[in-house]
Amino acid sequence: MALVFWFGMALLLFVLLPAKSDDIPAGAHSTECHDCYFVMAVDVSFTGEELHFEAVDETGVYPITQKYSAECGYTVSVLPLTGQVELRASYFSCHTDNKDDEVFTFNFNLISNHEGKEVTYAVNKTCTHSLPWSPREVTCENNYMEVSVRSEVACPSGEMSDDWHAENPNKASAASDWQVMFHRADEQLKPMNLSVARKQGYLFDLTDRRIVFRTAYGQPHSSSLEVNGVPVEVIHATLFSRQSWVFIIVDLVASCSMHEGSYDSGYMVWETPDLLNPLVSGLTNTQVNIGVGGELVQQPAAEESGFIVEKHDGKVEISIPYNAEGGYRKSFVSGGLHEFYVFNLYLEQIFVNKDLEETRLRFHRTLATPMLPLQVFTVNQTVVEEHTFTVYLGDVPEDIELSAVELNGHKCIAPFKNTSGHTVIEVFYPNNTHGYTLKVPFDDPVVIKKFSKEDEAMKHILEVNYTLTVLPENEPFFHLASVMALSDITPPEFDAVCSESGIIFKLDHRPFDYLWHISIGSDLLTPELATQHGYIMTNDSQSLLLEVPLFTHGYEYKDICLKGFTGTFEILVKDRETSEVLSSAVKTCQFTASEFIVCSTDGKMTVVADLSLASPSGEIPARSNLLNMYCGPKDADDTRALFSFPLNSCGSTVKLVKERVTYQNEIFYSKRHFSESKAASEPTTERLIVQCMYPLAGLHRLFSVYKFEADTAGVGKIIRTSQSTAESQQTTTVKPTTETTPAAKRTTRALAVFKPAFHPTALYIRVYPFQKHLSMIKGLKGASQTKLNPAQI
Ligand SMILES: *[C@@H]1O[C@H](CO)[C@@H](O)[C@H](O)[C@H]1NC(C)=O
Ligand SMILES: *[C@@H]1O[C@H](CO)[C@@H](O)[C@H](O)[C@H]1NC(C)=O
Ligand SMILES: *[C@@H]1O[C@H](CO)[C@@H](O)[C@H](O)[C@H]1NC(C)=O
Ligand SMILES: *[C@@H]1O[C@H](CO)[C@@H](O)[C@H](O)[C@H]1NC(C)=O
Ligand SMILES: *[C@@H]1O[C@H](CO)[C@@H](O)[C@H](O)[C@H]1NC(C)=O
Ligand SMILES: *[C@@H]1O[C@H](CO)[C@@H](O)[C@H](O)[C@H]1NC(C)=O
Ligand SMILES: *[C@@H]1O[C@H](CO)[C@@H](O)[C@H](O)[C@H]1NC(C)=O
Repeated sequence: MALVFWFGMALLLFVLLPAKSDDIPAGAHSTECHDCYFVMAVDVSFTGEELHFEAVDETGVYPITQKYSAECGYTVSVLPLTGQVELRASYFSCHTDNKDDEVFTFNFNLISNHEGKEVTYAVNKTCTHSLPWSPREVTCENNYMEVSVRSEVACPSGEMSDDWHAENPNKASAASDWQVMFHRADEQLKPMNLSVARKQGYLFDLTDRRIVFRTAYGQPHSSSLEVNGVPVEVIHATLFSRQSWVFIIVDLVASCSMHEGSYDSGYMVWETPDLLNPLVSGLTNTQVNIGVGGELVQQPAAEESGFIVEKHDGKVEISIPYNAEGGYRKSFVSGGLHEFYVFNLYLEQIFVNKDLEETRLRFHRTLATPMLPLQVFTVNQTVVEEHTFTVYLGDVPEDIELSAVELNGHKCIAPFKNTSGHTVIEVFYPNNTHGYTLKVPFDDPVVIKKFSKEDEAMKHILEVNYTLTVLPENEPFFHLASVMALSDITPPEFDAVCSESGIIFKLDHRPFDYLWHISIGSDLLTPELATQHGYIMTNDSQSLLLEVPLFTHGYEYKDICLKGFTGTFEILVKDRETSEVLSSAVKTCQFTASEFIVCSTDGKMTVVADLSLASPSGEIPARSNLLNMYCGPKDADDTRALFSFPLNSCGSTVKLVKERVTYQNEIFYSKRHFSESKAASEPTTERLIVQCMYPLAGLHRLFSVYKFEADTAGVGKIIRTSQSTAESQQTTTVKPTTETTPAAKRTTRALAVFKPAFHPTALYIRVYPFQKHLSMIKGLKGASQTKLNPAQI
């Protein structure tokens, strides 16, 4: 369909105008003389798309229409691929001034339409025929067949000559009776006189020494045959005249291969029979000359330029390389990207008969390949070390340009600017292709980044959607490319050190840190979270320092014994997009403390209590016990006892206050009083209150599956009764499920000794043996004012 359009443009319109001629600027057109025809080429860009020709001679101005050009020996071709219109005129064309069949002068008007304004340019050219004419010359033009034969007809009388120009009524003469008889296959058709033949589109002419016959293709008197497998159109006319006692017969035959050409692996193949006329034998084909770039060259020279000439099975087969000089290509979008090639083949075959009389047969053929799939390609030229994607798009034909690229869906339209970080650089090659190099840095916002756990590297992904535009139609075509690169960016690794009071994590910032999230459990680490949990965070441009004090949220305690315990804290590094945990920094430190309490998530209270603190001497830690007197310490030394028991056992009480569940027990221990007055006194009983508090919301499993499993560790407290007052609390007492009644009485007593000033939130823990009891209380007050949950002293 496209081809029909291109070649259909040869149909030209005509508007007759008063002759007013301008000069065509040099360079916009060229006129050349060839072996038997004249060529004028004009740039369409100069003339505009609407353009036509007129032939001019002394008798008038003759518009060259499609029909007229075939009858009179003119050929107009539009070469859209070069942007030119070409006019070829046979030396024997109707309005050529012919001097002795040697010097031919052409006068043309070229009429162009500039924005509705007609402009006429007059062109003239004189050509000299340098070669001697062969006895018979046949031309198979794109639009007509022409035969000229050497005429032995002496032409003394004016009347006879007049008869040839019978279309001119003034010159009509009845003195002679030239008739023409056409032959079709074996059939002889009814003879007609020349003026009738002319009306039917057959033109006969008599020049100085030659008789010329011309006809368009597909006329009623021609026949289409197949000769040696090649379609051929043959026109065979016999001219005869009786003049006085002489009877003259001239046989005129033109036989033209109508082969349309076929495309085969890079070659356009065209065929013609190896004989001039299927009806006439005795001629041998001696030579094939091929027009390369407009000039005929002999077979060996043509073969050097890549043409292949083969004679077999009674035909000559010409193979034209797809990139032959004088060929044109065009890209096309139709389903996918395609291209086709157009060749203007000019071919000459020379035949001789046994008397060595020459016949030259010339072909002008415009051949087009079918739509051929066209491939552009992309290569991944990424060098990971450059941290930049480099994608090369190559083999882009010259009539295709890159008009936009879409990078992961972000569109950039030509002309491409360097400002946005990515660049597009165009490269041109001598083989009329060009390419584009696209560079996109890995850290460009358009690049998709994903951490790949199995590769232990950062995966950068770039999907490119190229918009290629075929010119001049501006038809878009999309080419996709996808590149991926792994860069050995690993998730950050924290340095962690133990301190006396906690763990210190340190992270040096790197340029890729925007790729991760740092979190504690499920919480994203932010300055707000740090403040809320009592972490001390310092974040500057160089590094992030996170100090996690002991007993703050997130710790896990193990190996609790009188000597101390281990505390473990974990920081998670997560993928920013998927929240997948990529790595973690886990640090376990050994801590020592003379007194502490740990409330585990699985419902265990573990206490190390210093029983010497209340009274400096005389206590017996090993003999201490809980509310349930059968619950004794797991371990003890001279001053301290270690208890570890399920929260709701050993006589613990449970209270619900303000959405918090508090498990409470007491440590009883005997104390001997040594006084000067009494040698020995009865041992008195002292006690410590121990508490674990859990937010009620975190204990949902307790109410669904009756299993203690807190979301977070509880907050523990050790309260010394010596500081308590008798003030009572507004509390609800919940009986522990497994506890027995004797505890209830003592619970009530225990409640009575709370001191409200530091009750609500503070964690009461003795971490440092050197710290004084009172200073701890001060710290706790401050913490409770800022509504903090656990506070460390
Ligand atoms: C041919 O054209 C030239 C200029 O291009 C002009 O000088 C000359 O007169 C023309 N000849 C004829 C016969 O029109
Ligand atoms: C040609 O033949 C036609 C019809 O046969 C006739 O009318 C016409 O006059 C003839 N012309 C000449 C020039 O003989
Ligand atoms: C973009 O940068 C490249 C090299 O970095 C340069 O060759 C090209 O001319 C620049 N293009 C524009 C439009 O500035
Ligand atoms: C054109 O030339 C370039 C550079 O030499 C080459 O990479 C490319 O393959 C060539 N393309 C074609 C279609 O020949
Ligand atoms: C490529 O871009 C064009 C135009 O934006 C769009 O129509 C087409 O769907 C895109 N192709 C793909 C595979 O995304
Ligand atoms: C592209 O090139 C990079 C770097 O050489 C390589 O890692 C990657 O696997 C290549 N392939 C694709 C499809 O991106
Ligand atoms: C630390 O500061 C950097 C900027 O300097 C910021 O990108 C990063 O998110 C901060 N980290 C935290 C945990 O707030």
